[in-house]
Amino acid sequence: MADKSIRIAIVNRDKCKPNKSRLECKKNCPVVIMGKLCIEVTPQSKVAFISETLCIGSGICVKKCPFGAVSIINLPSSLQSETTHRYCANAFKLHRLPIPRPGAVLGLVGTNGIGKSTALKILAGKMKPNMGRFENPPDWQEILTYFRGSELQNYFTKILENNLRAAVKPQYVDQIPKAVKGPVGAVLDRKDETGSQKSICEQLDLTHLLERNVEALSGGELQRFACAVVCLQKADIFMFDEPSSYLDVKQRLKTAITIRSLVAPDSAYGVVTMPFGVREGINIFLDGYIPTENMRFRDTSLIFKVAESASEEEVKKLRYYQYPAMKKTLGEFSLEIKQGDFTDSEIMVLLGENGTGKTTFIKMLAGGLKPDGGGDMPILNVSYKPQTISPKYKGSVRALLHAKIRDAYTQPQFISDVMKPMQLESIIDNDVQNLSGGELQRVALTLCLGKPADVYLIDEPSAYLDSEQRLVSARVIKRYILHARKTAFVVEHDFIMATYLADRVIVFDGTPSTCTTANTPQSLLAGMNKFLSLLEITFRRDPNNFRPRINKLNSAKDTEQKKSGNYFLGT
Ligand SMILES: *[C@@H]1O[C@H](CO)[C@@H](O)[C@H](O)[C@H]1NC(C)=O
Ligand SMILES: *[C@@H]1O[C@H](CO)[C@@H](O)[C@H](O)[C@H]1NC(C)=O
Ligand SMILES: *[C@@H]1O[C@H](CO)[C@@H](O)[C@H](O)[C@H]1NC(C)=O
Repeated sequence: MADKSIRIAIVNRDKCKPNKSRLECKKNCPVVIMGKLCIEVTPQSKVAFISETLCIGSGICVKKCPFGAVSIINLPSSLQSETTHRYCANAFKLHRLPIPRPGAVLGLVGTNGIGKSTALKILAGKMKPNMGRFENPPDWQEILTYFRGSELQNYFTKILENNLRAAVKPQYVDQIPKAVKGPVGAVLDRKDETGSQKSICEQLDLTHLLERNVEALSGGELQRFACAVVCLQKADIFMFDEPSSYLDVKQRLKTAITIRSLVAPDSAYGVVTMPFGVREGINIFLDGYIPTENMRFRDTSLIFKVAESASEEEVKKLRYYQYPAMKKTLGEFSLEIKQGDFTDSEIMVLLGENGTGKTTFIKMLAGGLKPDGGGDMPILNVSYKPQTISPKYKGSVRALLHAKIRDAYTQPQFISDVMKPMQLESIIDNDVQNLSGGELQRVALTLCLGKPADVYLIDEPSAYLDSEQRLVSARVIKRYILHARKTAFVVEHDFIMATYLADRVIVFDGTPSTCTTANTPQSLLAGMNKFLSLLEITFRRDPNNFRPRINKLNSAKDTEQKKSGNYFLGT
C-alpha cells in the first residue's frame, strides 16, 4: 500500500480536452469501474480531476487519453512531506527546494515541466512557495519557520529584507527583440554597472556584434547577449534559465566559464538551469535520474551504443554514393570539401563550430548550391529541412500535411513512428502562421521525413526545441532512418545528440567564416576524437554503460587522455 501512495497523477491542463474526448480516462479507470470516484470529468469540465487518494497508479488513463494529457509519476515516499510548491491538484509538485550556496553555482537539471522555472522564481523572490497548500497558502512567517535551521531560512530572510538582488536571464531569448531595441553596444552600455563590458564581450564572443541591432541577432547571438546583460549587473544572485540553448559546444563551455567566474571570487550566488549542460548535468539528464534525490524524472534513459563503426569491408559492401573533392566560395568565405562517400543506409553527422560551412555543404548536397571548383556533386533524390524555417503557408497544419505528404501522414507506421512522438495531434488544427518556433520545427521535421527520398538532409533539427523534444526528435530521426534503410546528413550542435545519431561523422575545421575544410567522412570514434581535440575537451566512457561523460578540465583523466591522443571515450 505504501508503495501505491507515492504515485501521483498529473493532468496537463493544456492537453486535456474533455469536450473533444470520449472521457476515455474515466471509462477505463479500474477504480471508477469498481464504483469509486477516482476520476471526475464530464464533457463540460475544463479539465479532468484525478483523486490522489483513490488512484492506484494503474496507468490505464495514461494509455487511453487520446491527447496524452495524463501522466503518472513515482515519487520516493520520503519526499511526500517535503512539498515546497504545488499549483493545484493534479499539477506537478516541487519537492525540496535546491539550496543556493554563496560562491557556488547551483545547477537545476531536468525535463520541462519538472519545476526548474518555478524553483527559479521562488529563489528569486518572485513567487511565494505554498508548501503544497494551494488552497490555503502559508504566509512568509510560516514559511520561514518551516525552513528554520536550514540555509534556506537565511536565504529567504535576506530576500525578504531586500538584501539580495537577483539578476535573471530568461529562458526564452527569442522574446528579447520584442522588448529590447537598438544596437547591442548601446544596450550593454546602459546595463553595465561593473565596468566589465569589454572582458565579458570578449569572453562571450560579442565584440564584433556591438554595432548590430538586437533584432538582427541570431539565436546563439541573442543567447550570449542575454547572458552578458546579466553578467554586467551588480547582483547577489545570478540566475540563468537554460543558457545553453542555441549555443554550440565551444560557446557553451565559454558561457559556463563566464558564469563561474562571476560567482567564484566573492559571495554571490549562481543558479543555472540546464536540460543539458555541463558535466554531471549531461549525465544526470541522460540517466533520467537524479541519484542524490532517488527520483526519476523520465521513464526511459537514453541508451548509448557507441558502435566501433562498421568495418571497412562492410562499408565497401554497402557503398553507394561518392562525391569528389570540391570547392565553394561565397564572398569572403571559402570551403574546401575533401572527397567522400556514403552508403545507402547510414546517418552522417556534420560536426564543427558555427561558421565552418556545414549548412553550405548541406545546400550543395541538396543541389541548391553548385561547387565552383573541383568535380560535381552527384544528383541525389533528397528531402531537405533547412536551418531556418518560415511559416509561409496559409492554412492549418493538417492542410499543410495533406498538401505536402499526403501518403505518409495517414500511414499507421508513420503516425506511430513520427507524428505521435512529434506530438503533432496537439497542433494539427492550428494555423501554420500561428505556430511557435518549436512547433514549426516539429512540423518541418515531420514534413521532411514524410517526403519519399533516398537521402534526408536535416539542418539543425534541435533548434527551438526544448530539451525533452530534442531527445524525442533525435530518437525519431534515428529510428526512422534506420527502419526505412535511408541515409541522412544531420547538422547537430548538441554533442550528446550528435553522438547518439551518428554512424559516421564529417568534421569541419579551419577559421570560421573565412577558410574552412570539410574532411572525409570518418568513423564516429575517429571523427569525435578529431573534433574534441580541436575543442580541447576529453570524454571518458562510463564503465557500466556506454554513456559519454565529460572529463573535468585538467583532471588526471583529462591530462592522461590528451597525452595519448584519446579525446573521445578513453576507457
Ligand atoms: C550559427 O550562425 C548562423 C549564422 O551566422 C546562425 O543563424 C545560427 O543560429 C548559428 N547557430 C548557432 C548554434 O550558434
Ligand atoms: C491565429 O492567430 C490569429 C491572431 O492572433 C487568431 O485570430 C486566429 O484565430 C488564430 N488561428 C488559429 C487557428 O488558432
Ligand atoms: C525519390 O525516392 C523515392 C523513394 O525511394 C521515390 O518514391 C521517388 O520516386 C524518387 N524521386 C525521384 C525524382 O526519383
